[in-house]
Amino acid sequence: MAFTEPVLTKRIPLDASKRKTFWYDDYVATGGYASLRKAIDMTPEEIVKLVTESGLRGRGGAGFSAGAKWSFIPKEKKGPHYLAVNADESEPGTFKDRYLLDHDPHALLEGIAIAAKATQCDAAFIFIRGEYHRQAKVLERALAEAYAQGVFGQQGIYGSATKVECYVHRGAGAYICGEETGLLEALEGKRGWPRNKPPFPAIAGAFGRPTVINNVETLMCVPPILERGAAWFKTMGTPSSPGPKMFGMSGHLNRPGVYEDELGITLDYAINTLGGGMKGGKYKAAICGGISMGVLGPTQLDIKLDFDDVRFRGGCLGLGTAGMIVMNEHTDMVRALRNCVRFYAHESCGQCTPCREGSGWMAKILNRIVDGFGRAKDLELLLELEKTMGIMPGTTICGLADGTAWSTRTFINKFYDEFAARCPEDAPEPLATVPMTITRGRLNVVTPMGSNTR
Ligand SMILES: Cc1cc2nc3c(=O)[nH]c(=O)nc-3n(C[C@H](O)[C@H](O)[C@H](O)COP(=O)(O)O)c2cc1C
Ligand code: SF4
Repeated sequence: MAFTEPVLTKRIPLDASKRKTFWYDDYVATGGYASLRKAIDMTPEEIVKLVTESGLRGRGGAGFSAGAKWSFIPKEKKGPHYLAVNADESEPGTFKDRYLLDHDPHALLEGIAIAAKATQCDAAFIFIRGEYHRQAKVLERALAEAYAQGVFGQQGIYGSATKVECYVHRGAGAYICGEETGLLEALEGKRGWPRNKPPFPAIAGAFGRPTVINNVETLMCVPPILERGAAWFKTMGTPSSPGPKMFGMSGHLNRPGVYEDELGITLDYAINTLGGGMKGGKYKAAICGGISMGVLGPTQLDIKLDFDDVRFRGGCLGLGTAGMIVMNEHTDMVRALRNCVRFYAHESCGQCTPCREGSGWMAKILNRIVDGFGRAKDLELLLELEKTMGIMPGTTICGLADGTAWSTRTFINKFYDEFAARCPEDAPEPLATVPMTITRGRLNVVTPMGSNTR
């Protein structure tokens, strides 16, 4: 492991007062678009091979090999191919893509143009989160520059034979549109409901055509790989999770913010070196990759923040986005979990019964516990519910339900005593007088059990 210089943030100084947006001329003056010019002389297969060799894994949550994903796109073209760029970034605790887009939009556009060449895509759609007004404007201006300078458009990339169009598409602000097939539906102008798979997007994606979907940070790793090679990329990170990584650090920290380091740093290092140490009390817990990945507990400071250690030793779903929410010893874990589950109940698209009903039901139980009316059987019920929902038990279409399950599972298992103390064996029953509320927008709606149907 050796992270000696910033890669993705090489144009973004740590000193906030010195930061600016790098427009086309500044970007080119600092080495920008040199990798794209290199890619023009490479075949799509050579680019895919190089990215595969680099070991680049997707930075949007699942950590899937970028090169392998690109290789699934049919080699023989029978019509248009598309690239969908996931800039939806709605996972709570995650704000790394916003930071990159604010300062270095052309680094993304260069990554897009290279990926499009590698996968023979005719058009790229940047699907950006509805609330990212400023970043959408930055992208639109950078895109206009890139068109004017011959990166995109029908004259071909810098006059070459590869023609790529690129569009910025603003989302309407729903978390589920970050799920790749929900994104495709929204892009097509429909309700953002995730699709059943197969067929996978590589075969039938946007508008029924082969489509690659990649996260902003993933694509921004591509130009440096072309510039400096796969072996260089692998000098950073761990053997199975190579490369640099953006860490979004928030919560009880002295210096919250977005930091670049390499994959495989320990949680302890992230908190004490990047985040400037704990604020207001000792370390207690950390959500490691957006709330969907679950929580790391008090004895897990040695966990390596890469795609495997967080999962296998850390007991979480994975590293996710590396959007970390660090909590000190005064944090109420019951309330923290209630916040997570309330979010899922609100954002569930409603297609799958275990997710739609389960998340609402869990939110109601957690509201009851927070309100001081918890019963021992509530904990059993929460753990039973979480086991029945998600792609992993095979009961739902998308991973939103897994996020609900894993946050519930890890919070309760790792802080069992705290939950148990709020759910006594001798709690009185029945509790029919306690209102069961779930949040709808800004309203707390009183609902009977099992009525989360929209
Ligand atoms: C509920 C849900 C929300 C998601 N939100 C995002 C998101 O906002 N941004 C993102 O890049 N990936 C998100 N993902 C992951 C995408 O489905 C997909 O795996 C990713 O965009 C692929 O890009 P990558 O391979 O470059 O990581 C989400 C997944 C789920 C299940
Ligand atoms: S798991 Fe939840 S969010 Fe995903 S498709 Fe099913 S109901 Fe919708």
